[in-house]
Amino acid sequence: MNNNLDLYSKVEHLLGIDEATKHLHELYVETLYNYEIKTLLDLGCGRGDLMEKLEKFDIACEGIDLSALMVQKAKSRGLKAEFKSICEVEKTYDAIVSAFDVLNFVSTQELENFMQCVHNSLNDEGIFMFDINTLHGFANVAEGTMSAEEAGMFLSVDATFEENRLNTQFTLFEKEGELYKKEQSTIVQYFHPLKFFKNLKNFKVVQSRYLDLYDEKDKAFIVLKKA
Ligand SMILES: C[S@@+](CC[C@H](N)C(=O)[O-])C[C@H]1O[C@@H](n2cnc3c(N)ncnc32)[C@H](O)[C@@H]1O
Repeated sequence: MNNNLDLYSKVEHLLGIDEATKHLHELYVETLYNYEIKTLLDLGCGRGDLMEKLEKFDIACEGIDLSALMVQKAKSRGLKAEFKSICEVEKTYDAIVSAFDVLNFVSTQELENFMQCVHNSLNDEGIFMFDINTLHGFANVAEGTMSAEEAGMFLSVDATFEENRLNTQFTLFEKEGELYKKEQSTIVQYFHPLKFFKNLKNFKVVQSRYLDLYDEKDKAFIVLKKA
C-alpha cells in the first residue's frame, strides 16, 4: 500500500491537473446518468470534487480515501468521507466509482483482493466504474519531470516508468519562518493490463474504451457490472 498519499494530497493543486480532472468527471457524470443509481461510493474520493457534482443529480454519495488529508478536505466541504479501505466497507451500493488513476495506486499483488472487496460492496447488478493509465500513458505522458511553485512552496516532481511501475518522487520545500522545510517521498503507481479486468469471473464488462485525456489513448475507461 502507498503510504505517501498525504504528500500527494498536499501538492495536488500544483500539478496542473484541474482541467483534466473536470473533463474526466464529466464523463463519469454522463455515464452514470445511463444507470438507475441511488447510492454511490466514491472509492479514492480525494478532495470530493466528483461527489459534489453527483449530489446535484440526487445520488446519495459517500466517499473513502486512504489519505487522511484528502478525507479532511472532502469533509470540510460538507461531504460524507471516511478514512477507510474498500475491504473495511460494510454497506453495499448501486455504484462504486474510482476516478483518476485510483486503481493504479493499488499494487499488482493487492489487485485481486481489492476487486473482491469492490464486488462485496456492490448491490446485485451494481456497477464499478474506473479509469486506469495505459502503457502509453505511463511511458509517454506520466514519465518525466516538472516543477511548480506558489507563495512559500516549491515542488519538484520526477517520475520514472520501469518494469510496469511508475515511481514518482515528490520533493516539497515549504517556507517556515526564514527557512524552508524539505519533505520528500515516492509514490508508486502500477500498470494493470485490461485483460485482467476482462477475465474476472464475478464481473461482466459493460464498457471498455480508450480515452485521450492528455494524449491519444493515454487512459482506459471501464465499466463493470457485478455478475
Ligand atoms: C489522483 S487522486 C484522484 C482523486 C479523485 N478520485 C478525483 O477524481 O479527483 C487518487 C486518490 O486515490 C486515493 N487512493 C489511492 N489508493 C487508494 C486505495 N487503495 N483506497 C482508497 N483511496 C486510495 C489517493 O489518496 C488519492 O486521493
